[in-house]
Amino acid sequence: MSLEGKTAVITGSGRGIGRGIALALAAKGCNIAVNFFRHRAEAEETAAAIEQLGARAVVVKANVGKEADIRRLVETAAAELGGVDIFVGNAASGVLKPVMEIDVKAWDWSLNINARSILLGAQAAVPYMRRNGWGRIISITSAGGRRVLPEYSAVGVSKAAIEAVTRYLAVELAPEGIIANCISPGVVITGALDFFDRKEAMIAHAEAHTPAGRLVTPEDVGKLAAWLCTDDAAMLVGQTIELDGGHGVVMSM
Ligand SMILES: NC(=O)c1ccc[n+]([C@@H]2O[C@H](COP(=O)([O-])OP(=O)(O)OC[C@H]3O[C@@H](n4cnc5c(N)ncnc54)[C@H](OP(=O)(O)O)[C@@H]3O)[C@@H](O)[C@H]2O)c1
Repeated sequence: MSLEGKTAVITGSGRGIGRGIALALAAKGCNIAVNFFRHRAEAEETAAAIEQLGARAVVVKANVGKEADIRRLVETAAAELGGVDIFVGNAASGVLKPVMEIDVKAWDWSLNINARSILLGAQAAVPYMRRNGWGRIISITSAGGRRVLPEYSAVGVSKAAIEAVTRYLAVELAPEGIIANCISPGVVITGALDFFDRKEAMIAHAEAHTPAGRLVTPEDVGKLAAWLCTDDAAMLVGQTIELDGGHGVVMSM
């Protein structure tokens, strides 16, 4: 299915997995609001690549941890690109510490940027989706929302909140043709891994224990996101799809 004439807002889409999703949707004709916070040059490069694919792009600086910024991001996309049909909550940040060291600042930072942004982004975008009786909300979560990873406590809690809020959005909005789901990628080599002391060990473990024989790429996530935007995916509602080459079903012994 072509996404010609549709518009997507994708948080954190200047680089990494967000860029992979942006390019996959743009390849189907979707216009994209490319959101960045700190890395403008990468966002401009992503926008240029979208335009090379024949779609339109607008670059919007917004800190999705701030309510006013996320609303402005959605409003700018609607004004510049003519509406909002798809909202992808992909941006993430967070404090990596053991749970006993998580203070209020670390909790608020991780929860607000990662999870509250999806609630507020969806609330801003859904009125535009309602105009056409069609919409998609895709939230990017991780295995740490359901299982325990070292130092991942605050981010893991934010991912659990993302999955829960996405289920509520899915159930309340599906009768209106607005479909919400989560994608939970396995280990993907992006800048996010640089924050982990155990980066090399994490990559080696994932490589050794992924039945599909390779790590997931931003392009893999983009292809699944693009499929979720088709009408073929309309009966998949409120799910968390583990896109990990089978890594999550292997028990480490
Ligand atoms: N990489 C993995 O192995 C993996 C696995 C499972 C799930 N995920 C999830 O996939 C998503 C993307 O991660 P990634 O691996 O692509 O990470 P990344 O390369 O580090 O990218 C993070 C993105 O989030 C944006 N961002 C961070 N704080 C922001 C803020 N306050 N406001 C707006 N944007 C903000 C960044 O924008 P700027 O650079 O402009 O600040 C950047 O585009 C995240 O939700 C992550 O949890 C990743």
